[in-house]
Amino acid sequence: MANTRTPLMAGNWKMNLDHHQATHLVQKLAWTLKDAKHDFSAVEVVVVPPFTDLRSVQTLVDADRLEVGYGAQDVSAHSKGAYTGEISATMLSKLGVSYAVVGHSERRQLHAEDDALVGAKVKAALGADIIPIICVGEGLEIRRAGDQVSYTLAQVDGAFDGISAEDAARSVIAYEPVWAIGTGEVATPDDAQEVCGAIRGRLAELYSAEVADAVRVLYGGSVKSSNVASIMAKHDVDGALVGGASLEAEEFAAIARYQSHQVGL
Ligand code: 13P
Repeated sequence: MANTRTPLMAGNWKMNLDHHQATHLVQKLAWTLKDAKHDFSAVEVVVVPPFTDLRSVQTLVDADRLEVGYGAQDVSAHSKGAYTGEISATMLSKLGVSYAVVGHSERRQLHAEDDALVGAKVKAALGADIIPIICVGEGLEIRRAGDQVSYTLAQVDGAFDGISAEDAARSVIAYEPVWAIGTGEVATPDDAQEVCGAIRGRLAELYSAEVADAVRVLYGGSVKSSNVASIMAKHDVDGALVGGASLEAEEFAAIARYQSHQVGL
């Protein structure tokens, strides 16, 4: 049965591009897609810049009525108070932010974010009507041991602990095997399908078939215009969380237009 999920292509810029460069890239991206008579209803295109760029991106998107969405790379688990350096979900919501990446492997590794904190951030985002893009995925040792599915599903369980079915249904999950991030190593389409399919199965167990069917599961890790179509051809892959290749407007636009590519595999 064909699914009704709108594909989502999200560009995680990580700590790249200041607010001037952000404006330039978003403008170019919107125009590149428009020039190609791209049907924005066929795929949702979202940029995820650093916090300091969000106000500039908001101003541009609003003024030019661009169909590009934008998200934040992180969100605080706290609502307000003495948390130096943190940004609350309400602050992001005031900037028109519709998505927040939560639990990216770089934050899990470099900032010791555990499943409990990731779960609290998911709740904080949803509480402000921001859709969390919940990142999960195994490292190389776990992949070599063949434990990628159980490891990743345990992260899914942690992220959705205490989340209602209604909130779960509007969340997004990104399966990003850590060994494929920024390395040029891409999981094969079958590798991506194996874990993305298992994630959907777990959502059906935790909630219902309807919730599992509604949630978009993205793949992330060295996605490029040359490999996106074969990954997107897999049944349970609903989009991509793109790092390096989202920093070039033309390349990211080509990724968003994957439906016009030939599937090579
Ligand atoms: P790359 O596409 O650069 O491998 O990064 C993937 C990623 O971490 C997106 O969040």
